[in-house]
Amino acid sequence: MSATPTPTQFDLSGYLALQGERVQAALERLIPAETVEPAVIHRAMRYSLFAGGKRVRPILAIAAAEALGETSDVVLAPACALEMVHTYSLIHDDLPALDNDDLRRGRPTNHKVFGDAMAILAGDALSTIAFQVVAQAEGLSVEQRLALVEELSVASGTVGGMIGGQVHDLEGEKQAPTAELLHRIHRAKTGALLRASVRFGAIAAGKLAASEEHAALSRYGEAVGLAFQIVDDLLDIESTPEQLGKTPGKDAAQHKITFPAVYGVEASRRMAGEQLQAAHAAVAPFGERAAALRAIADLIVHRNS
Ligand code: IPE
Ligand code: IPE
Ligand code: MG
Ligand code: MG
Ligand code: MG
Repeated sequence: MSATPTPTQFDLSGYLALQGERVQAALERLIPAETVEPAVIHRAMRYSLFAGGKRVRPILAIAAAEALGETSDVVLAPACALEMVHTYSLIHDDLPALDNDDLRRGRPTNHKVFGDAMAILAGDALSTIAFQVVAQAEGLSVEQRLALVEELSVASGTVGGMIGGQVHDLEGEKQAPTAELLHRIHRAKTGALLRASVRFGAIAAGKLAASEEHAALSRYGEAVGLAFQIVDDLLDIESTPEQLGKTPGKDAAQHKITFPAVYGVEASRRMAGEQLQAAHAAVAPFGERAAALRAIADLIVHRNS
């Protein structure tokens, strides 16, 4: 009788530590030092960027490239560009004119330390430098870099992208919480950049649009993107400032349209689980090469911060 092969146990915490360090080192190299003039803007950019985010987006890009057999450093700079845009979106999301938050990544928010004007500019600067980094990415063809620029601008833009989602999110505070609006908000404000993250990996691995692999990774990205924001909404209800590094309870206080507000906590948790299944199914054809993507999807749904 032949032995049943046991699936190799994936060491997610080792993987996250290793990839997190690669991302950290690359970000250090790509962002001007605090001594470069005008020093205050570089201090403000670095303050939020190096405050200890989970680095989910760059690590997703790295893992997606790996699923396609690309394990070199070519994906690293584009992956960092995703973290720059994400961090910019957080700095602006926390501003008094948006969610008005005091705590982010376990620290006082950017505007609390640097003032509103510099926080706005630090966000602008992180967005701008992200496109510079993609345009200058080494080891990628002009066609690949152009595809990345397009992907990042659409995902962070106004039509189905992050900014569009933030607009619906803010306007939603004064609207009835319908399922239709909820899905529109979440797909755009969070889902678009997470889908772009895995697509970044595909593009860096040479798979531009219109390939089966690109489509499969996009389906994975949509599923984890939705799951990510469902869990973010649940954590806002169930977690503590110490665990989250941000202030919980804000969504209900600000009448946000969230999954728990529309469907309730139990149904929301079940729906996150359904998205997790969809994410696994999407990358099944990649077999062992998608071990990291599977483990990251599990983490996104079962995380506590
Ligand atoms: C928080 O994102 C904002 C959302 C899009 C829900 P993360 O939970 O990825 O925050 P960091 O990067 O770890 O701080
Ligand atoms: C923000 O969603 C999504 C972004 C585009 C930054 P939230 O407002 O729910 O994010 P948190 O909970 O403040 O991190
Ligand atoms: Mg918000
Ligand atoms: Mg917020
Ligand atoms: Mg939230």
